[in-house]
Amino acid sequence: MRAAIFQFSPVFGDAATNVARIEHAVRSAEAELWVLPELATTGYLFSDRAECGSLAEPVSGPSLHALADLCRERRTRLVVGFAERDGDMLFNSSAYVGPDGLVAVYRKVHLFDRELLTFDPGPDPFRVAALGPHHLGMMICFDWVFPEAARSLALLGADVIAHPSNLVLPYCQDAMVTRALENGVFCLTANRVGVERRAGVELAFTGCSRIVDPRGRVLAQAPAADDATLLADLDLDLARDKSLTPRNDRLGDRRPECYVGRRPGNARPGGPM
Ligand code: ACM
Repeated sequence: MRAAIFQFSPVFGDAATNVARIEHAVRSAEAELWVLPELATTGYLFSDRAECGSLAEPVSGPSLHALADLCRERRTRLVVGFAERDGDMLFNSSAYVGPDGLVAVYRKVHLFDRELLTFDPGPDPFRVAALGPHHLGMMICFDWVFPEAARSLALLGADVIAHPSNLVLPYCQDAMVTRALENGVFCLTANRVGVERRAGVELAFTGCSRIVDPRGRVLAQAPAADDATLLADLDLDLARDKSLTPRNDRLGDRRPECYVGRRPGNARPGGPM
């Protein structure tokens, strides 16, 4: 399967322009799956929750409608980050859209920094959706810090993790090599570039979008500061082989009975072993 990432710098608050840029990119190359950055239709740095609410759209809104039309026209699929309004709730979401319309929506579980002032945390467990005979899972940007996110998607059978991002810290791109390797999945981190200066805050986004294979090999990488389209041919069956040695299986060898799911309430470092 040919996959693509479009890395760009969305114009804050101008969904029509941002959707037009995505349409142009998707019409400029052939791919069966596109991954776009987090909040690709609105930009990132909302001054407050009211502003976020005024720019957020429901899943039935004009941006996803236009992108669904694009997928139908191009017979392709895309994963795109957008600000979602659902009644009084605001989510930092990503939509998986295919030629027949909306397939799935993921609402970001782990909100980063100022996102906590403008969005509600996604309430739903991680899920996967069909990608032909394979499976696609979504996580968004800061979710990378929580290995449980990618691991949950892998345990659910994800072969590909689509990872729309607006990264400002320098760690994620390298960390995704480990997420891909430890789970035996393809990871497509679609980051943005550019700088946003709003509400007395300045954020510079780090680009370097990456496509990583289940052995941790970087198949394609974008530059740090420029718009870019990345393309890679993915043999999705590689994600079905979780072996690392003839005796080791990355998912099968897990020992959940030895793991801790929650931090114990009164754990003391250095306590009895
Ligand atoms: C992030 O989660 N946008 C850093």
